[in-house]
Amino acid sequence: MTQSTLDNLSREDRRFPPPDDLAAHANVTADAYDHAEKDRLGFWAEAASRLTWATEPKTVLDDSRAPFYRWFPDGELNVSYNCIDRHVEAGNGDRVAIHWVGEPLDTGSNEHRRDLTYAQLKDEVSRAANALISLGVQDGDRVAIYMPMIPEAVIAMQACARIGAVHTVVFGGFSAEALAARIEDCQAKVVITSDGGYRRGAPAALKPAVDEAVTKVGGAVEHVVVVRRTGQDVTWNDDVDVWWHDVVDSQSTEHEPQPFNAEHPLFVMYTSGTTGKPKGILHTTGGYLTQASWTHHAVFDLKPETDVYWCTADVGWITGHSYIAYGPLANGVSQVLYEGTPDSPERGRWWKIIQDLKVTIFYTAPTAIRACMKQGDAIPGGFDLTSLRILGSVGEPINPEAYVWYRRVIGGDRAPVVDTWWQTETGAIMISPLPGVTHGKPGSAMTPLPGISADVVDDKGESVPNGSGGYLVVTEPWPSMLRTIWGDDDRYVDTYWSMFKATEDRAAFYFAGDGAKKDEDGDLWVLGRVDDVMNVSGHRLSTTEIESALVSHPAVAESAVVGATDVDTGQAVVAFVILKEGVDAEGIERKLSDHVRSEIGPIAKPREIMIVPELPKTRSGKIMRRLLRDVAEKRDVGDTTTLADASIMQLISAGQSTNTGD
Ligand code: WTA
Repeated sequence: MTQSTLDNLSREDRRFPPPDDLAAHANVTADAYDHAEKDRLGFWAEAASRLTWATEPKTVLDDSRAPFYRWFPDGELNVSYNCIDRHVEAGNGDRVAIHWVGEPLDTGSNEHRRDLTYAQLKDEVSRAANALISLGVQDGDRVAIYMPMIPEAVIAMQACARIGAVHTVVFGGFSAEALAARIEDCQAKVVITSDGGYRRGAPAALKPAVDEAVTKVGGAVEHVVVVRRTGQDVTWNDDVDVWWHDVVDSQSTEHEPQPFNAEHPLFVMYTSGTTGKPKGILHTTGGYLTQASWTHHAVFDLKPETDVYWCTADVGWITGHSYIAYGPLANGVSQVLYEGTPDSPERGRWWKIIQDLKVTIFYTAPTAIRACMKQGDAIPGGFDLTSLRILGSVGEPINPEAYVWYRRVIGGDRAPVVDTWWQTETGAIMISPLPGVTHGKPGSAMTPLPGISADVVDDKGESVPNGSGGYLVVTEPWPSMLRTIWGDDDRYVDTYWSMFKATEDRAAFYFAGDGAKKDEDGDLWVLGRVDDVMNVSGHRLSTTEIESALVSHPAVAESAVVGATDVDTGQAVVAFVILKEGVDAEGIERKLSDHVRSEIGPIAKPREIMIVPELPKTRSGKIMRRLLRDVAEKRDVGDTTTLADASIMQLISAGQSTNTGD
């Protein structure tokens, strides 16, 4: 982030105090900070007691093998029981758990609109659990889920959790290649998918990518369970494919959930790191559910009897895990699950859903807010959004203009905005306002939540004074922390715990790549990544991963990818490519762009591809991305004194750039 952005941020002086009635009835008040400060582990033990344990934990934290921390290690519980059965037992079986809205408008046939109560969800999840068992899935086995946003996606995740199987949900926008790599890495024996889902007004196929991935991993996948959603044609392989309705519908609705140890693996979520290979982030059971559910209760001031909650994330990302599939269900709220895009079949679809279902809490990403803001105030202005009482943001820094627009136009100048900072690795929200306590500042994620210790430090690990920037670190372990990288403990230690190693006085700090600033009040402003990971529309992409995809094209000799600032998507992918000699360059940008799309998926498609004669390198051969970023952002190129050949930048800047369009 540039100095001028830092200066602009420090000039922000608008403050939004909590609404009086919210503050008066808030689930969590200011004393939570004091309580947690005095007794951090006692605070988390209390948060854990919001769950129902089969065996109450006696130990809160085992740090004897740090950084392989274990939370509530002698406790036992079942996640699915906590998310479903206990609400039914408490007499809330008739409460709607999921208001599902398909993308096509409802025709009254239930094809595109379904409400599932907690009692119905219990039956469906039990059936699906029994079906997985009948297919030979046992506790500890991995199951890949590649689905559109339909109730079966959540049912499948809950069914895995119920029987102790470890799910890995792969975003439906990823390619067959990306899916195969994930299936292979965690050795999934079952894949759950659907024929397709509705996107932008048309059925989009999913099954062909699964077929291709299953062939690629050769024999590892024993069964593919296919939900019929769109009714489109699918190719069928009798050896592995089974229809969901054939294998699930006939099962019993009785399934007794067994307790699992608090450290039993719950899921693996793949995310981009600084090297090409995605990292399988492992989350476990008790600590994860404790923090996912407590933060959901605290940050959204959730009142399960009256709130209607909606998080627009896809279940293929961590937000869809912690704040759709687990946290909200553990808290017993009614939530909206929407299949499609915000402007299908017409603009204002989101606002119509909020109006129709009287949504009270809405959680989305800055990139979506900016897209809506661009369409003007009139579209949301046409709907009754007065039910909304809290607005959340996640995925990337929210710029003050978008924050203020969100609050004013969507929140009627009444609903507070909670800007929530966290990561796939942290599992749950870490830094955020509390809506009944905090006087929010547009653009700031404010302070660590009670029970969370985070700081901004310099490169020696020393806390920086207010008014300065540095690296954002977490200084004490937290319950929903990642436990390791699947199959690679060394990479876990290297990636997260080696930048600020343990000293005589303290344990190692957790660092996962973000820069931040403390303002004069000590409030935190997250400035974005400091490593080679980009954040496009709130989704993490690694530069190396896209570079490897480009180099795998026969025409490419070398490539370098940078994330350039983009008004719509936060960052956008810009690629610099050296072609092999003698290649026909005609239309090559489009071909390369399509290639990246098919290797990784549409989100990784470069906004621009520049064909260049050389790349700027240091004498030791390291690509100087900083200089390429200057070119990509059309700035004067910065200091080139460490370049092996300083004339290269002139050649690159003079070159043609091509917008790859859509
Ligand atoms: C960024 C998404 C600023 C950050 C939950 C982080 C944010 C990465 C915010 C994690 C926020 C997320 N303000 N930046 N409120 N929330 N980020 O793993 O760079 O997909 O490291 O998890 O998104 O992305 P991930």
